[in-house]
This record gives sequence, structure tokens and C-alpha cells, in this order.
Amino acid sequence: MTDRSKRPDINVGAAFRRPVVCGAAALAVAWLASVTVVVGQQPQLAGAAFKNVQILKDIPVDEFLGTMGFFSAATGLNCTDCHSEESGGNWAKYADESPLKIRARGMMRMMNTINAMNFGGRQVVTCFTCHRGVSRPSVMPSLDLLYSSPPPIEPGDPITQAPNQPSVDQILETFVQAIGGAARVAALTSFTAQGTYTGFDDAEKSDLEVYAAAPGKHAIIARGKSGDTTTWTFDGTNAWLAAPAVAKPIPLIPTTGADLDGVKLESQLRFPTMIKQALTNWRVGYPTTIDDEDVAIVQGTTVNGAIATLCFDRKTGLLVRYVRYANSPVGRIVTRIDYSDYRDVPNAGVKIPFKWVVVGLTGRFTYQLTSVQPNVAIPASRFAAPAPSR
Ligand code: HEC
Ligand code: HEC
Repeated sequence: MTDRSKRPDINVGAAFRRPVVCGAAALAVAWLASVTVVVGQQPQLAGAAFKNVQILKDIPVDEFLGTMGFFSAATGLNCTDCHSEESGGNWAKYADESPLKIRARGMMRMMNTINAMNFGGRQVVTCFTCHRGVSRPSVMPSLDLLYSSPPPIEPGDPITQAPNQPSVDQILETFVQAIGGAARVAALTSFTAQGTYTGFDDAEKSDLEVYAAAPGKHAIIARGKSGDTTTWTFDGTNAWLAAPAVAKPIPLIPTTGADLDGVKLESQLRFPTMIKQALTNWRVGYPTTIDDEDVAIVQGTTVNGAIATLCFDRKTGLLVRYVRYANSPVGRIVTRIDYSDYRDVPNAGVKIPFKWVVVGLTGRFTYQLTSVQPNVAIPASRFAAPAPSR
């Protein structure tokens, strides 16, 4: 086992990396044969999809894997620290017991008891509350933290309406104006695009294809040089991820719950004439800064009660950040999308972000467009559940 006491810091990017780099798709095949995949309304539960799940049985596969990312980010432990070294590249080995897995199960029970006994069962104490990115929580306050200038507040904690802020309508209108005006934005009903996708390893660029249609449908395909293909689709109602065996233990994973709400808004933001209607309970917080630029923060609630946070550059009016959240049994999972490189879609008079960077608990992913074609007819089948990519 690695010497975790010497671990300098969390490396969340590495959380998934070991199975990825050590992975050989062939290794997983025999085991995958026993895995059935259910597409559509009833996503498969973790208890049925995996071999040795004792506590997290009744959550869908995407939420289960999100929970694993949460474990890693909260404790600073890599996947293979809790699972065995051999599990890098062999998903079947993840079912093996290990002292840290047993410990983590005990921690889940403890955490649930703390929340039940003290906080009416609300999820307020999570793995992160105590661990803060290290496997052995500190028993004393940090003097460095005490005397360092306050760290930037991450927008996204539920915000409340701040006094004397521009209204949500003003902020959204300024944004639509900044990208071309309502009429031209409404006239852009679809686009296709090509570019590059950079996953875990900055050296490995994949070819990127994007298909998008209003009011919010998409298919995003990243083709790796080695033939691995990752596909994300959203048909307006359901979303799926088809990933190669080196990256995910299940070939086709439906997106569920609050995460699905997040994907929906992300898709709608590409055709932002209807954002106002997409969320309710809008509030505008105190302005903050991102990379030294002043930004306005607005937050709203999705139909299913999830939170979405949008940050707009106060100078340009452009949407620069979208923060979305998924639920897990052990705490809230956060994903941040930073938009930049706004450029004109040829012949459309509308600007879209040619670059967006997705930062989540298990890595950082960069999408860069190089060419975009407006108002292309895209068959509905493009947005449906993709074929498993293996
Ligand atoms: C803090 C320890 C810990 C970390 C870190 C961790 N896991 Fe787990 N993992 C567990 C526990 C505990 C279970 C069993 C859950 C249960 O019994 O409900 C599990 C189960 C699994 C399973 C199901 C295996 C099977 O067939 O039964 C998979 C797959 C998995 N983890 C993947 C991952 C991945 C990928 C990562 C890195 C992103 C990861 N885990 C990080 C503790 C951990
Ligand atoms: C109330 C605080 C608290 C919460 C909540 C908590 N932990 Fe812990 N955890 C600790 C403490 C304290 C230790 C170290 C105990 C020791 O040193 O023996 C620990 C130890 C661990 C260890 C063993 C680390 C090692 O290196 O031996 C794992 C794994 C772990 N926790 C995972 C989790 C997970 C996963 C969650 C969320 C489900 C969680 N913990 C929630 C306080 C907490």
C-alpha cells in the first residue's frame, strides 16, 4: 500500500487515472459479460450492476460512481488506495475486500448516524466535513489557515438574494445581447462542430464532434487516437454516457437525478433564449471575481429541486461559468464548467464559447472547437442512447 502519510496533497485528477492508464480493455471483457445494461426510464441500480456492494445498493450506477469520486476527493485517496493495486486495469478486482473499503463502509454508517441523531437526517455532515482532502483528519486547527488571507469563496453554496444587484432579467438580457441579440440567437436552431478534447492526460488529445439542437439536445463524441470513443448524448429528456472499458466499468451509463437536470440546463445554455424559464426561484448574489474579472452570480432551482449557478462577466456580459450539482448518499457532487473563447458562429451572427473546461471530482476535461456549422439538420437518432463504445 502507498504511504499515505507522505501524500503531499490531493490529486483529484489522479483519482480515475490509474484505472485509465493501467487499463487494458480486454481485461474487463469477461467480467462485463455478466453485466446487463438497462437503457431508458429505469437505470440499473448499483447493487445489481456490481458484485460486492453492501451499503450503496439502491442508487443508480452513475450516482454510485459519483460517490466513488466523492470518496477520493474527500479523503485524498486514489481509487486503487481503497481498492487493490491490481484493480487498476481490472474492474472485477474492485469487488475484492480491503481494509480501507471496510473502514469506508463503517464511516458511511457513522456519518448517517451523526446526521440522523443530530441534524434530523439532513445531509449536513459528509465525508468532506471531517476529511477535507486528507485520509486522516487533523485533530488541531491549522495555523497557516488561520493567518492566511481568506480563500476565495466558491460560488455555489446556496446563495441568497443580495441587495442592490441588477435583476436576473437584466443579467440574462445583457448576455443574450452580448452574443448577438435575441432575434439572431433564436434563429440559430442547431449547429455541428469539430475540435479537440483533452481528458486526463494533457498529451492525449482526442478528436471532438459536437451536435447540438435547440432548445437543448446534444451529442458530444470524443474519438481517442487509440480508437477509444466516449459519447455523451442528451435527447431533451434522457442522457447517457458511453465510455470505453478503460474509463468506466459499465459500457453505457444513463444519467439520473439532479445530474440529469444539470445536463439539461447545460444543453439549453447553448441556445440561451429560454434560460429564464428553465429555472425558478432566481436569486442574484453579491458579485465576485473569477480570474480577476468581476462576475455577477445568479442562482436558480431546477424542476427537480437541484441548484444551478451561473456567473456572468460584468464587463462583457458573457456567461463564464456554470456550476451544477449532483446528489450522492455521502455529499453533494460539484461540477464546474468554465466557458471562454467566445467566437462568431459563421453566418449566424451569434457568439458561442469555442472552449469550455469541465472540472469535476475526478478530473479536468477541455473541449476546444475549431470549426462550427450553423443550422444543420441533425437526425433525432443522433441524440438517442449511443451504442456502447466497446
Ligand atoms: C475511501 C475508499 C474508497 C475509494 C477512494 C474508492 N472506493 Fe470504490 N468502493 C469503496 C467501497 C466501500 C465500496 C463498496 C460499497 C458498498 O459496499 O456499499 C466500493 C465499491 C466500488 C465498486 C464496485 C465493485 C464491485 O463489483 O462490487 C467499484 C466499481 C468502485 N468502487 C470503483 C471505484 C473507483 C473508480 C474509485 C476512484 C474514483 C473508487 N472506487 C474509490 C471504497 C472506495
Ligand atoms: C465525523 C468525522 C468523519 C466523517 C464524517 C468521516 N470520517 Fe473518515 N475518518 C475520520 C477520522 C477522525 C479518521 C481517522 C481515525 C484514526 O486516525 O484512527 C477517519 C478515517 C477514515 C479512513 C481510514 C484512513 C486511513 O488512512 O486509515 C477512511 C478510508 C475514511 N475515514 C473514509 C471516510 C469516508 C468515505 C467518509 C464518508 C462516508 C468518512 N470517512 C467520513 C473522521 C470522519
